Amino acid sequence: MSQQADDFKKLTAHAKEYGFIYQSSEIYDGLSAVYDYGPNGSELKNNIKEYWWKAMVQMHDNIVGIDAAIFMHPKTWKASGHVDAFNDPLVDNKDSKRRYRADQLIEDAIDKLTEKAEKEIEKAKKRFGGSFDEKLYRDTNPRVSGYLQRAADITHRMNAALGAGDMEALKALIEELEIADPETGSKNWTDVRQFNLMFFTQLGNIAGEEGKLYLRPETAQGIFVNFLNVQKTTRQRLPFGIAQIGKAFRNEIVARQFIFRMREFEQMEMQFFIKPGTQQEWFNYWKQYRLKWHLALGTPAGKLRYHEHENLAHYADAAVDIEFEFPFGFKELEGIHSRTDFDLTSHQKLSGKKMQYFDPEMNESYVPYVVETSIGCDRMFLALLSNALVEEVVGDDEGNTRDVLKLHPALAPVKCAVLPLKRNEEPLVKKAKDIFNQLKLSFPTQYDDTGSIGKLYRRQDAIGTPYCVTVDFESLDNDTVTLRERDSMAQERVPIDKVEEIVRKKVDMRQLFE
Ligand code: GAP
Repeated sequence: MSQQADDFKKLTAHAKEYGFIYQSSEIYDGLSAVYDYGPNGSELKNNIKEYWWKAMVQMHDNIVGIDAAIFMHPKTWKASGHVDAFNDPLVDNKDSKRRYRADQLIEDAIDKLTEKAEKEIEKAKKRFGGSFDEKLYRDTNPRVSGYLQRAADITHRMNAALGAGDMEALKALIEELEIADPETGSKNWTDVRQFNLMFFTQLGNIAGEEGKLYLRPETAQGIFVNFLNVQKTTRQRLPFGIAQIGKAFRNEIVARQFIFRMREFEQMEMQFFIKPGTQQEWFNYWKQYRLKWHLALGTPAGKLRYHEHENLAHYADAAVDIEFEFPFGFKELEGIHSRTDFDLTSHQKLSGKKMQYFDPEMNESYVPYVVETSIGCDRMFLALLSNALVEEVVGDDEGNTRDVLKLHPALAPVKCAVLPLKRNEEPLVKKAKDIFNQLKLSFPTQYDDTGSIGKLYRRQDAIGTPYCVTVDFESLDNDTVTLRERDSMAQERVPIDKVEEIVRKKVDMRQLFE
């Protein structure tokens, strides 16, 4: 197993062991690509949502929030293009009867070409030592440049085929690359077909197509159909935004990589309504603003990058992803899309209701353009967890290694743990519980006396608790405690009545905006 695969396995095991994420319906062997959040997971997820809501809604006087229903009139999805164009290209292996996304099979083949080039470069690096010029080698070594050029060519052809909806071209690429079923090695493929990703259910008393209700595949449409309601009731003027956090559902065929690609997930989306012609300016603004939001959490800049789209969705005239380096490589974390007036115009046409804004400065009405920011809360959760989980060697009396979750303190599920040095000493327990009962009024606090102090520290490190308060015999004499900081493991003696202030300062979300 590669180091990356090993790290990822460790991460998923850690997420389960410490109450962050469980497989849904695990007692029935689970439901693929559906997950439940445990006690620490739901706290962390709530904190992510709070940070997003504060940054996107409360910090902007021209952005407001809504909470629209998951079910929407079926015509919504016709207008948005999801009924006709929200498809994945699928291919079945005739021997193994397994189904795959054709573009992902091709992407894996492209990754293999890039890996081959990287291996050659690594070998050359070792061979030439300090005098090695990597750029020159990439450009001039025939084998390396051959692999890289082929990878770029295949990527380009795949994107063109996806953009044109050309399923035959995708099948031809699978055959040309001699792609085999990853599970069985068989190359006996069906044709590539489009498969719609929306889940649906039936409205109680209406049979057939008319009663077909879709589970929303994005939260954005709840915002579009409410555009005028919100604009009028909040008396907003352009530019202004509407934000929403909520569940979305997609019948993902290849569901893999834990909570990276789920069938039920949560989105945090904001549609920013603007004057036509200003989309480039706002697209750039939100592209930068959203990157800053990630960096403020302490995510290293080298783990984040932009990826401009070559293959645009049916509604966009520009799109960029913010990618994060997950344990399985750089992948999309968030999308910023310039959606033109596509959605509002389509709803206007299909509903027959005007979706226009009266611009008092220009004294005319028009359909606004929209720039959207869209991030999956679950994907953000995975990014945070994979960045934060580290195994450290600690050469002190607390043991030799520790797994510590170095989450930003403002997002940590538990902010402070109160631990009596001995659990059977009644005065210590009472004192610790008194402190716990005070601190829990201010922030999520845990009381724990179920193990030795070293073990209790380890458990709090593993869930990312920024501070532990240890109550010992000295505490009974002089009302002081030991405050242990998670990352440095430094311990300092502080008066009990100062603990709340120290912890509050450290975990305050405000620092993320300073
Ligand atoms: N409204 C635009 C939209 O939905 P998208 O790129 O399809 O755009 C936006 O999705 C974000 O939602 C992605 O960047 C990702 O973070 C998250 N997302 C999409 N599909 C997901 C899935 N199956 N599981 C988890 N998160 C997903």
